[in-house]
Parts: sequence; C-alpha cells; structure tokens
Amino acid sequence: MARKGLTAKAAVPTAAPFVPPSRNLRVLAKAAQDCKGCDLWKGATQAVFGEGRPHAKVMFVGEQPGDKEDLAGRPFVGPAGKLLDRALQEAGIYRGEVYVTNAVKHFKWEPRGKRRIHKKPNAIEIHACRPWLDVELEAVKPEAIVCLGATAAQAVLGRQFRLTQHRGQPVPSPLAPMVTATVHPSAPLRAPDDESRRRVIAAFLADSRRIARMLRRYERKAA
Ligand code: URA
Repeated sequence: MARKGLTAKAAVPTAAPFVPPSRNLRVLAKAAQDCKGCDLWKGATQAVFGEGRPHAKVMFVGEQPGDKEDLAGRPFVGPAGKLLDRALQEAGIYRGEVYVTNAVKHFKWEPRGKRRIHKKPNAIEIHACRPWLDVELEAVKPEAIVCLGATAAQAVLGRQFRLTQHRGQPVPSPLAPMVTATVHPSAPLRAPDDESRRRVIAAFLADSRRIARMLRRYERKAA
C-alpha cells in the first residue's frame, strides 16, 4: 500500500478558505488580515486590502503593496501612489471616486542592507491571492478596470496578455464592460536616467488621459 505522504499531491496555495461569504468591503478587508493562503503573510506587516468608493465605477488594480503601503496598510500611498494621484488629477479623475487595489495583498520583498526591496510576486502567489480580487470585483462591480503594469494585467486578463502590444486599449473581458491596462506608476522610479524617467512619466500621463477619455465615452454610451 502506498504511503500517504509519498503519493499525496501538495495543496495548491489559495486564499479561498480565508474569504468570508460577505460582499461588505469592511468585512472582507478585516478577514484579509488573517489570510495565510500563501507564504507572503510571513514577511509582511499586514495585508493591504483595496480601498475607495464601495461601488466605484472604476477599479485600478496594481501589483502588490510596496514598503510604504505595507507599513501604512493602504494601497498606493508611496512614491508610485504619488504618480498615480498626479495622473488621476491630470485626467480629471478624483481618487475618492475610484477603488484602488492590488493583485496581491501582501508585500513581497528581499533585504538589501537595511532596506526592503520589492520582489515580484510569482504566478503561484498571484493565483493564491485571486479569490480576494474576485470578491472585490463582486462587491464593487466596477464598470471599468484599469490594470497598472504587466503583473496586474496578466493577473486580471490572463498570462497571454502583452502590455507592450495592448497598453491603453480596451480589452474584452467578462470582468467588466471596459477593461484596459497601462504601465505601472512605479516604472519611472526604475528608469535608468532623467531623460527616460521623463519619457515614462509622460507616457503614463498620456495613457491616463486616454483611459479617462475612453471612460467618458463609455459613460456617455451607457447613459
Ligand atoms: N505598487 C503597487 O502595485 N501597489 C501599491 O499599492 C504600491 C506600489
């Protein structure tokens, strides 16, 4: 007889057992603090759940909280959040009107000296965290989803999605009537020099304005 330990398949990490049946965002955000669906909770200060208007028309999805977000317990409050705020302002979108979240709710990092350096979540961690994003989508029911960066775009739209080919364009999806993706607002922080940083910022702001125009067109049609 085969011994159980040798034949049993390792369980696929998932947040599913930690997600309560509620669609109340406060209840969900509280429950996310107890999530041990994958190992990322071990290195994080807390889970960073989405926040914003409960029935926002637009949901922005980033990759994962960064160092500042991990400490504050709120999404996009660090340097990437500042650029997101600027893009929203220039595009005429009020941050209080939208819902902002991440594909992964715990900060993944590695030490470099005294600093905690962002480490990209892998496919297993993104998949494990998906039940939280799904329940946020069910609770908010946004009319538009804007994915910020390739990781968020692939988490929402599938791994075959190529940001380089489809950024700023509407992408058909069962998740919302309008779904699109742009670069991550932390991209300029990684640019090698001032000139490329300026270029990346200009492109992000231009994408944001284009997305805002698309949203307004969609709203006019739906009215
Ligand atoms: N980057 C993200 O993707 N999300 C945050 O909340 C902060 C930085």
